[in-house]
Amino acid sequence: MKFESKTFLLKDGREALLRLPNEADAEAMLDYLRTTAGETDFLMRYPEECDQKYSLEGEKAIINRINASETELMLACFVEGELAGVCNLMFNNGMKTRHIAMVAIALVKKYWRLGIGSAMMRELIAIAEKREGVLQIELEFAEGNHRARAMYEKLGFRVTGVHPNAIMLKDGTLLNLYLMAKELKKR
Ligand SMILES: CC(C)(COP(=O)(O)OP(=O)(O)OC[C@H]1O[C@@H](n2cnc3c(N)ncnc32)[C@H](O)[C@@H]1OP(=O)(O)O)[C@@H](O)C(=O)NCCC(=O)NCCS
Repeated sequence: MKFESKTFLLKDGREALLRLPNEADAEAMLDYLRTTAGETDFLMRYPEECDQKYSLEGEKAIINRINASETELMLACFVEGELAGVCNLMFNNGMKTRHIAMVAIALVKKYWRLGIGSAMMRELIAIAEKREGVLQIELEFAEGNHRARAMYEKLGFRVTGVHPNAIMLKDGTLLNLYLMAKELKKR
């Protein structure tokens, strides 16, 4: 999907750039995937899985495929040229589910608490609101992810369901996944 790059100000006064990633970002995207997977238990992967699953060429192909897609959007946020985080928006194609969009987001830890998460999510919500026929945005968060939950609630999402024991950590800890939804105001 198309997206016109834009900038916004962080809570510390620095400027952030929001844009589509491109092939030249593939290496930074792989680093980002590994880093974020190691910084929190609340994402769906461990760092070593990133090395097994992704390659530079594979990442370039993923970036190109998503940029060319009419149903998926991936946005990257850069601060002082460094990749701070990525968010995704996915629209459904099926007749019975195309009123629902899904979102996901993760930032590198040193860029938490600067307002990037809220800014990126607001951007995705605005895009979903403009898409014909989309009535609801959904997402999932893992048990214990208070920061994410607080951000989503602030943006109008509410918990709508639970997937018990959806995640098992290496030490055997089981975590629920919670489903959240936000109904969209249609213009
Ligand atoms: C969750 C995440 C995307 C939030 O992004 P962020 O840029 O840090 O969030 P923001 O700075 O925009 O803050 C969003 C809100 O979170 C809440 N918040 C911030 N710090 C918090 C804390 N320590 N505890 C609870 N809530 C907190 C506040 O409501 C804040 O809004 P406010 O600043 O207007 O009061 C980010 O922390 C992240 O990438 N975490 C790791 C990956 C992850 O958990 N992804 C989500 C998976 S569902």
